[in-house]
Amino acid sequence: MRLRSIELNVPDAVAAKAFLTGVWGAADGGALGETTYVRGSNEFPYLVSLTQADAPSIRSTTFVGTAEEVAAIAQRAKAAGAPCRDTVSDDLGGGQGILVQLPEGEVLRFLHGDTSVAPIEGRDLPVKLTHVVMNSANAEATADFAEAVLGFRVSDRTKGMVFVRCNTSHHSTAFARAGFTSLNHIAFEMADLDAVMRGIGRMRDVGAAPAWGPGRHGPGDNVFAYFISPFGAVVEFSTAVEIVPDDYRVGVPEDWTWPEGRIDQWGMSDKDLANLGVAERTFKYLPLA
Ligand SMILES: [Fe+2]
Repeated sequence: MRLRSIELNVPDAVAAKAFLTGVWGAADGGALGETTYVRGSNEFPYLVSLTQADAPSIRSTTFVGTAEEVAAIAQRAKAAGAPCRDTVSDDLGGGQGILVQLPEGEVLRFLHGDTSVAPIEGRDLPVKLTHVVMNSANAEATADFAEAVLGFRVSDRTKGMVFVRCNTSHHSTAFARAGFTSLNHIAFEMADLDAVMRGIGRMRDVGAAPAWGPGRHGPGDNVFAYFISPFGAVVEFSTAVEIVPDDYRVGVPEDWTWPEGRIDQWGMSDKDLANLGVAERTFKYLPLA
């Protein structure tokens, strides 16, 4: 499976789109009905959908695969008695499949037969989403569900997170040991390190400093720079996430400790825990209707 997109409700979709297609560097994916879309450079018609609503929330996070892969998830979800519903997409991305609700209410959508568009070029365009991280009250239980029902695999466990993959990329999602359920952050994959750094520069041009970064993580080995977006969600420029083999050894928290004063490989920046903590509670998951 591949992570394709996240579908958000936001109080000001016009402003959120203006940010994402402006200084953030993504492209306009068009609009359909009440919803407007933001795309990257790859073949996905959109990476983020923005629907005008009274309060911020997450409608779904969407993964795409083959009909067989989606059917296997549907079969396991139904057998497990998980809340789920067959679906035919009526959004810009097309496709059909199943909506599955995780134990803490997060809705994931698995589609096949989804629409592709011609890739576009632009050195500062995000390529795609590389991961969506969810805050969890019980990250281990959610990761267990992801392995047993969705067929995902745990890549690493740290003191703060359980990193989960759905293909050879080290993680397409992770469950943070937060003690509550919400969106932790959305990570956009940039073409290379320079594209991440130019993104940080564009944000600096408008007076926005990273809430954390630039840096390079331990698990996944990816470069990161986190910002609190004007629409409230934490967004990340990322690149060069590790590609892992099928027999990747699942790391344990003791594998991922840092020297005193360090929480990443580079040690260049402080982490704005107070403001990130607020932003990471902004987007709650809408349960399966
Ligand atoms: Fe991240």
